[in-house]
Amino acid sequence: MKIGRAGTPSVVVLALAVVAVVACDRGSAATPPASEAAGVVAPAYRYVPPPRVRTYPSSYATIQHWIDNGNVKAIRFHGWDVWQSITSPTPYNRPVWQTWPSGHELFEMEGETHVFARAKHGVVQFGVRRDVVHPSIPIATGPNGLPFDSSERVFAFNRFTEPTAEFIWKNKLNRAQTLADTNAALTRRGTALAVRAIITSKDSTDSSSFVLKPVYQFISGTEVTAVPYWNGDSSAATTDSANPIASTWRQAVAVDPTGKLRPGDFVRLPVNNEGYKLCKVVPLSDFYWQRITVEDSIHFTQFGAANGDFIGVANDTSWQAVLNAVRPGNIGLLVAMHVTGKEIPNWTWQSFWWAINPNDQFGADRPKTIPAPWNHYDMTVAYSMLTPQGGSNVAYNPYLETSLAGDVPLPKQPPKPWTGVTTNCMACHRRASVGYYDTTEYGAPYGPDMEIAPGDSLVFIAYRKGKSGRDSIAIPLLKTDFLWSVAIRAGGKFKAPPAKP
Ligand code: HEC
Repeated sequence: MKIGRAGTPSVVVLALAVVAVVACDRGSAATPPASEAAGVVAPAYRYVPPPRVRTYPSSYATIQHWIDNGNVKAIRFHGWDVWQSITSPTPYNRPVWQTWPSGHELFEMEGETHVFARAKHGVVQFGVRRDVVHPSIPIATGPNGLPFDSSERVFAFNRFTEPTAEFIWKNKLNRAQTLADTNAALTRRGTALAVRAIITSKDSTDSSSFVLKPVYQFISGTEVTAVPYWNGDSSAATTDSANPIASTWRQAVAVDPTGKLRPGDFVRLPVNNEGYKLCKVVPLSDFYWQRITVEDSIHFTQFGAANGDFIGVANDTSWQAVLNAVRPGNIGLLVAMHVTGKEIPNWTWQSFWWAINPNDQFGADRPKTIPAPWNHYDMTVAYSMLTPQGGSNVAYNPYLETSLAGDVPLPKQPPKPWTGVTTNCMACHRRASVGYYDTTEYGAPYGPDMEIAPGDSLVFIAYRKGKSGRDSIAIPLLKTDFLWSVAIRAGGKFKAPPAKP
């Protein structure tokens, strides 16, 4: 995610999707095996829904009751139950979440025309272009009629439970044209700003609807590698407390894929440009990990690589570093995962990351029923934008939001700066919306410590310069049900993110 990376201009720049880059990223793919093309999906790849685990699923009313009472204990307990559910094993030695349809399958495999929009003389012009999928490649479909790509089963950048994927697919919410038409229709009808929205499930809540964002770090498959770990944002633990991204962490574990070193011993390895440090040896089995196959490395989606949420060796998130590390025989360590569920209309938000001491303050309440390696992950939760008392409800993942920075523009006051370590998942995702067709950037104000109402005109009306250059045209936005993937990957009207400093 790159909403104003540290060091980028102060506006919140939601300039992520890289449709031009994604175009033809399967260009070199061979024709899929016949079994796939015929719609027969190997049993190991068949969709497995998240099973019941204790409080999962719970009704909207039950969860809302915890929220209203500030019952953090119950909320966290539920977050763990969700984790145990989605990480449950399948008969094929992989967790259920890894059987779920991917963002690439849902958004980029259509082989259909994608809309583009550009402002010319102040007028938005729509056009269509055929992009994304190489036209000569037949698209395989799974049993549910969704496009299917077996190489997406391992390292996908976003995942959706099948009911969510199907809903988005059947209602064509993966297409910019649908979103543009919907927004235009709402304008014609004079629909109130607060209800200018699509939803991505049949009902206003759906406990079977989950969306994920897994984050992998790629390491050598044959050598001991220093893998820096999160130890908080103090200056002892990071060289940049304001934006403590992984490449600033000052401590590391030595991950040993050879099995030759003794777990618990210490070895000296270079850590993030700070020279050699003593690193505790941990076995691969402390992580959820996958060895990269030839197929994975050929098909690794550039959308994910370019997005900066996969991590190459030495904690480098640049596209090149990631692509260099995605080599057959290397290993992907699951280091973090965002999990959101439509269990309440504003979705429940929980996020997980690998911890050296999984019984610290973010993991001490983890139920003992969660087996290895999933019990090596800590958790934060955000089921509301603010606490019931109106205080800030900070929840961020050290691998994902720590790179963020921006300013909240305030009326008649100087803008208020913020960084990722003060953010709240729900408040930022509430803003997921489309309709701003300026070719440059989307500047909806974001700031933590805010309850964002769905009808907030500061957030959900964008302005574009009119013909004269002095007048401005108001563009009411269409909310995309808290899913930035729909806003960004369906559209293709956002520029590629700025290069990382
Ligand atoms: C400042 C804004 C911001 C904050 C804070 C934020 N996200 Fe996101 N999130 C995004 C954007 C933008 C994307 C889409 C691009 C990407 O995946 O990098 C995204 C993607 C996701 C996705 C993939 C599905 C989708 O369509 O949105 C999930 C799941 C997710 N975030 C969960 C979380 C959780 C859980 C937290 C809190 C721990 C969180 N996010 C905090 C902006 C944010």
